Amino acid sequence: MKKIKIGLVGANGRMGREIAEVINNNGSCDVVYTLGRDKKVDHDHASKVDVWIDFSSPEALSDVLKIAERHKKPVVCGTTGFTTKEKNQLVKASKNIPVLWASNMSMGVAVLNEALKMFSSVSNFDFQIEEFHHIRKKDKPSGTAITLQENLEKAVGKKCPEPLAIRGGGIFGIHKVHAMSDEEVITFEHSALNRTVFAKGAVTAALWLAKQKKPGLYQIRDVLFGK
Ligand SMILES: NC(=O)c1ccc[n+]([C@@H]2O[C@H](COP(=O)([O-])OP(=O)(O)OC[C@H]3O[C@@H](n4cnc5c(N)ncnc54)[C@H](OP(=O)(O)O)[C@@H]3O)[C@@H](O)[C@H]2O)c1
Repeated sequence: MKKIKIGLVGANGRMGREIAEVINNNGSCDVVYTLGRDKKVDHDHASKVDVWIDFSSPEALSDVLKIAERHKKPVVCGTTGFTTKEKNQLVKASKNIPVLWASNMSMGVAVLNEALKMFSSVSNFDFQIEEFHHIRKKDKPSGTAITLQENLEKAVGKKCPEPLAIRGGGIFGIHKVHAMSDEEVITFEHSALNRTVFAKGAVTAALWLAKQKKPGLYQIRDVLFGK
């Protein structure tokens, strides 16, 4: 079977190293090109890539999309901390190539986002999202908390208070969604037990996206639950 060729952006970072390890242990794909902060793009080499995986920083986004669009290849992006302008760049690129952006690549958080729809039946409750991450995380609140907040507000049909963001130690990511009334409290909670869960999700998404022929903006739920 022909192996899928992956271009990895942010390869030296915490997630990049984890993704390379997952790819190494997966018989169906290889990393054939890496892009770092100081590397000049070699287009001959980049043209061999079947699908890009980007876990870097918002500053890398326009270069990543430029290369992917030039060679008409899909992009899986897990970077968080994007401004509205940068999110619009993803939307614009998705008119030409398949783009999948997810603030969290784990199956558990995809399920949690679906579960939030249940809160529509207690929309009169008070709601609060809480998130915990390692001390070196750059964005605050996390991209996952922002996505959860968007889905929560959609489900309950009202604005909810901003997520509370706590930074400390080596926590890979804990997200809690509380629904509170005078008589009871419901809490949905997801904990990532390692970084591999995000890396495995990103590689699964890349192998899936490489097969998508149509340009478009895909979500992790499309990979897990079908488009
Ligand atoms: N979607 C998810 O499931 C998920 C899960 C975890 C993390 N994330 C997100 O993924 C991103 C990376 O996280 P991390 O913990 O791996 O961060 P990190 O350890 O700081 O790694 C980021 C890597 O990207 C590189 N980079 C930064 N700017 C670049 C640019 N302009 N061009 C090329 N390379 C560039 C960095 O290079 P230097 O070493 O030269 O700075 C570094 O190697 C963050 O946005 C984080 O929030 C997403």
